[in-house]
Amino acid sequence: MSQIIITDSQFNIGWLCTGRQCTAGLGEKLAMRWVSPRFERQDFSFADLDRLSNRFANVLASLGVGKGEVIFTFLPKAPEQFTAFLGGLKAECIVGTLFSNFGDDALVDRLADSRARLVVTRKNLYRKIERVRDQLPALKVVILTDADEDISSNVLSWNHLMSAVSDGYVVPVTTPDTPSVLHYTSGSTGKPKGVLHRHRSVLQQSRTTREVLGLKADDLFWCTADQGWVTGTSYGIIGPWSLGISQMHFGGGYSAQHWFELLQNEGVTAWYTAPTALRMLMREDCDLFRKIDLTRLRSIFSVGEPLNPEVIVWGRDTLGKDIYDTWFQTETGAIMIANRPGIPIRPGSMGKPVKEIEPGILADDGPPLPDSEHGNLCVRSGWDSMFSTYLNNDTAYSSKFRDGWYHTGDMAWRDADGYYWFLGRSDDVINTSGHLVSPFEVESALLELPEVAESGVIGAPDELLFEKVVAFVSFHPGFEFTPELELKIRLHIANRLSSIAIPQQVFPVDTVPKNKSGKIMRRVLKARYLGQDAGDISTLEESL
Ligand code: PRX
Repeated sequence: MSQIIITDSQFNIGWLCTGRQCTAGLGEKLAMRWVSPRFERQDFSFADLDRLSNRFANVLASLGVGKGEVIFTFLPKAPEQFTAFLGGLKAECIVGTLFSNFGDDALVDRLADSRARLVVTRKNLYRKIERVRDQLPALKVVILTDADEDISSNVLSWNHLMSAVSDGYVVPVTTPDTPSVLHYTSGSTGKPKGVLHRHRSVLQQSRTTREVLGLKADDLFWCTADQGWVTGTSYGIIGPWSLGISQMHFGGGYSAQHWFELLQNEGVTAWYTAPTALRMLMREDCDLFRKIDLTRLRSIFSVGEPLNPEVIVWGRDTLGKDIYDTWFQTETGAIMIANRPGIPIRPGSMGKPVKEIEPGILADDGPPLPDSEHGNLCVRSGWDSMFSTYLNNDTAYSSKFRDGWYHTGDMAWRDADGYYWFLGRSDDVINTSGHLVSPFEVESALLELPEVAESGVIGAPDELLFEKVVAFVSFHPGFEFTPELELKIRLHIANRLSSIAIPQQVFPVDTVPKNKSGKIMRRVLKARYLGQDAGDISTLEESL
């Protein structure tokens, strides 16, 4: 069984995923089969990834960007995503990944807060950065992966830069606590927070890749998550490659036909995806799956939202496969609780804790609760892939820890056999198709529209997406809620935040309920939406 080998206390993730594999004799082994959106295939060996990421580390040095400085990729799935990520880590930069669908506000929030020095992107996405560049004084260089020539003195061509440097790079000996990966996550209040990880996270990422995903030397793994999110980096890059395991990456979007042809034709042996995608597949014609030979596919894993028992039944009946639910967060960096081969699946449960992880269900006022009681899902502090801070926000970080427990913000319970069952969030964060959306960010973006006076945003149950974004909006006098205005609202949210945050429903209201200190009472909006009693609303200043 493959195992991560740390030598000379070299914790550098970039090196462990490439150079280390070459010195272990896997240089010529397939690291990545890249399948483009047009189904062109390109194979990268571990030696290829090593050389390309070395080149990128040299590019960073040539541009004067170094240890501890923040760089970002802002790319769709593409080979450069992987080499830039690994090269940036080799150079001991803090590497962030931006979901390519992000709009202007989402970009500024992340790039300005982190004082990012460099962004790797493409020409069509660069237009978004150009629009906000005056708000990003720390941004020194933008590199365009599809520009043959430099555009200006600080908008440079990837090919040009990469061909001008050597493919040899001596990776500095990196301590476990050196900062590594940065992902922003949305809360229910304030701007998105930068979750900072360190190189030591690789221990838990590789451990769970073995223990939960069960990956072995001759596997071909496919993780469908975008690299803009934690699953895409922890398991679409770090876990498998730190163990010398081959991965497939596909640049195209959801398509049942194409996905299943890829699973069959490429011989994928383990597949990591999300409940929304699985629920979409459940809606497809069963004949599609009957024509596909999935003998090589050993197991399917899911993360990001609750996995309905019906999906597990569908997996068994239609695909003849078990689907294993796993639970983790951006902050935890790696899987903490999971169903996995070897442990009987309890449909609807997230499974059992992984090695070295001690979860607990705690009451609001602190003490751990016995089995069966509902409470706050916590994790005993100190695990290897624990985030080291929220960038520039130590106070928010500290507030998540009490008496040696990290509070996840999820509510759950544990049964007598040690399986954990998800109940929901303890805050207002919306989980739509596995992506967290901040109601606060959507409300703020809505207020930018001249027509909008007030807004309140909630997550409402949805059969496909798990939750959908629903907005309650009051308008300034003289403005009427029309289909055109609704379209304008949707486009505005897509352009400012991302298409994920677009309200699926917009309800005009006279006023938005707020408490005495002016806080929007989303609880009341949600109760109204669900036709339930809103409970104690005595602190309300105004009502719907
Ligand atoms: O509420 C939980 C939900 O997603 C949150 C973490 O989101 P994020 O940091 O964006 O990371 C997502 C990918 C790891 C959790 O606090 N969540 C994640 N996995 C599950 C889940 N909810 C229910 N069941 C899961 N398996």
